[in-house]
Amino acid sequence: MHSLSIAQFASVVASVLIWGVVLAISHPLPQSEFISIPIVRIHTPAMTLSYHPSIIHQQHVNRGIRRLAHMTGRAQPSYERLWSNIRERIDNLYDNLQPRYNHASLEILKHMLSSANTRKTNRLQMLSAASVSATSGDSDLESLSNSLMNAASAGFVNTIGLDIQSNDVGYLATVKIGTPPRNFRVLVDSGSADLWVGGEGCRNNGKGCGNHTRLGPHTSTTFNDTMEQWSITYGTGAVSGHLVQDDITIAGLKYSRLKFGVARNASDEFTSNTIPFDGLLGFAKSTISQQQTPTLLESLHKVGLIKNAIASYKIPRLADGKDDGELTLGATNPAKFNASTFVTVENVNKMGFWEAAIDSVSVNGISLGWSNRTAILDTGTTLLIAPQEDVDTIHQAIPGANFDGSGWTVPCKMSTSLALTFKGQEFPIDPRDIAFLPLDEDNPEMCMSGISAGNVGFFGQTTEWLVGDVFLKNVYFSTNANEDRDEISFAHLAD
Ligand SMILES: *[C@@H]1O[C@H](CO)[C@@H](O)[C@H](O)[C@H]1NC(C)=O
Ligand SMILES: *[C@@H]1O[C@H](CO)[C@@H](O)[C@H](O)[C@H]1NC(C)=O
Ligand SMILES: *[C@@H]1O[C@H](CO)[C@@H](O)[C@H](O)[C@H]1NC(C)=O
Ligand SMILES: *[C@@H]1O[C@H](CO)[C@@H](O)[C@H](O)[C@H]1NC(C)=O
Ligand SMILES: *[C@@H]1O[C@H](CO)[C@@H](O)[C@H](O)[C@H]1NC(C)=O
Repeated sequence: MHSLSIAQFASVVASVLIWGVVLAISHPLPQSEFISIPIVRIHTPAMTLSYHPSIIHQQHVNRGIRRLAHMTGRAQPSYERLWSNIRERIDNLYDNLQPRYNHASLEILKHMLSSANTRKTNRLQMLSAASVSATSGDSDLESLSNSLMNAASAGFVNTIGLDIQSNDVGYLATVKIGTPPRNFRVLVDSGSADLWVGGEGCRNNGKGCGNHTRLGPHTSTTFNDTMEQWSITYGTGAVSGHLVQDDITIAGLKYSRLKFGVARNASDEFTSNTIPFDGLLGFAKSTISQQQTPTLLESLHKVGLIKNAIASYKIPRLADGKDDGELTLGATNPAKFNASTFVTVENVNKMGFWEAAIDSVSVNGISLGWSNRTAILDTGTTLLIAPQEDVDTIHQAIPGANFDGSGWTVPCKMSTSLALTFKGQEFPIDPRDIAFLPLDEDNPEMCMSGISAGNVGFFGQTTEWLVGDVFLKNVYFSTNANEDRDEISFAHLAD
């Protein structure tokens, strides 16, 4: 059970193909001062039993709200509030629900949501709700109840967005760990600072941790358990385990006895078989490491395996039809950006996240007049989350945008140019990234906006935006954590 059989491997490969993830080829450059590895995007196709896109969208928003609250040191929103965000969406779309979306499951969900005041909706309640629907001949009992159970157990309100249906929801890289070295697929996250992978014997509430590659004394002869404990709660999901030391190789660079986490206990968000990664790799600064260990990047730098503690990202976009993402360690890769647009700003975050002052925000070239907004740059967040009043102002300037009572929609074929300016350089967001998901896939006229409201803190006092992949797909993005630097750079991507 500790290593993948060929059949399992084939099925993982098959599911990777089903997800449409295409492995890019690494392009080692002749210079040795930096190394690059591919990062590949994750998206999932529509499944048979699907939630309406506005609910999927709200899950992303909820997740962003939790993450932003965490990153700005504010109180976490209550589960009741996150539930009610979802319920509002359901109420809004209910009258003109597309027949294709499983009416019964939404009916049940709506019922569940109105009767469940707590996060824990019990399985029996759901099963009986599902059987009500089955007796009414509406649906396949098993798939419905499974789906509902997965939905609720995965913390439906803010599920990580990787086993849900949408595009470009996360980025993965492959590292080798242990002796003999084995591949682990890790989620590349500029918004956290820990590395962990699942451990042998990992448990999820009494169950196993799914079909993932795992690390432990049975699979690695260099594995050394320190017995020290760690635990992390993310925007969604929780993991805990022991700190271990083992060898890790990233893009051919081997670091011996790195200290990092193996999970002994992990929630559904990380263990479901549909989650296409085996762990997380954080690239924020170790000052926010919950494991209180130097990051992989800092460790590689400290021993001189890379010249600078720099991580640089070119993240790919499904709509481009390429999977040409690249994570570069030690420097920037000049082949990937237009040098005359390269700007560097100070990291204004004192905790250890990556946060840059935004000079201005403009729509079709007209500045919205904000001078005190900042962007927390997070590859681990899908959307761009800002306070309601900012999001309203932006959409009021987008021709055809509409507030449907709970969220903003924009014309799917919008051509409005929205741009963020850093250090005098303007960075436009491709309209395809703002038009996040069509409300109705058969008639893609209006799309849910990728710029969404998520209030944390007191009304009118929040100036931090959580700026995720909706923006980051449009730029070359680089962070520098050298001892004497604390900087963020952006440039236009090379064509
Ligand atoms: C692992 O995945 C395969 C194929 O998807 C499946 O048949 C098998 O039951 C899974 N194993 C576990 C432990 O879930
Ligand atoms: C495991 O780590 C401890 C503490 O660093 C060290 O003393 C011990 O020799 C290591 N054991 C092995 C087998 O590497
Ligand atoms: C594992 O997770 C469960 C459920 O969250 C929790 O009750 C338990 O204390 C955890 N165990 C360890 C060893 O962290
Ligand atoms: C690089 O950016 C500059 C400034 O925007 C622009 O004038 C130039 O055409 C760009 N070069 C390429 C190769 O795109
Ligand atoms: C930020 O700017 C807005 C106006 O754009 C102003 O109302 C607000 O008070 C400012 N906030 C801070 C913290 O300076």
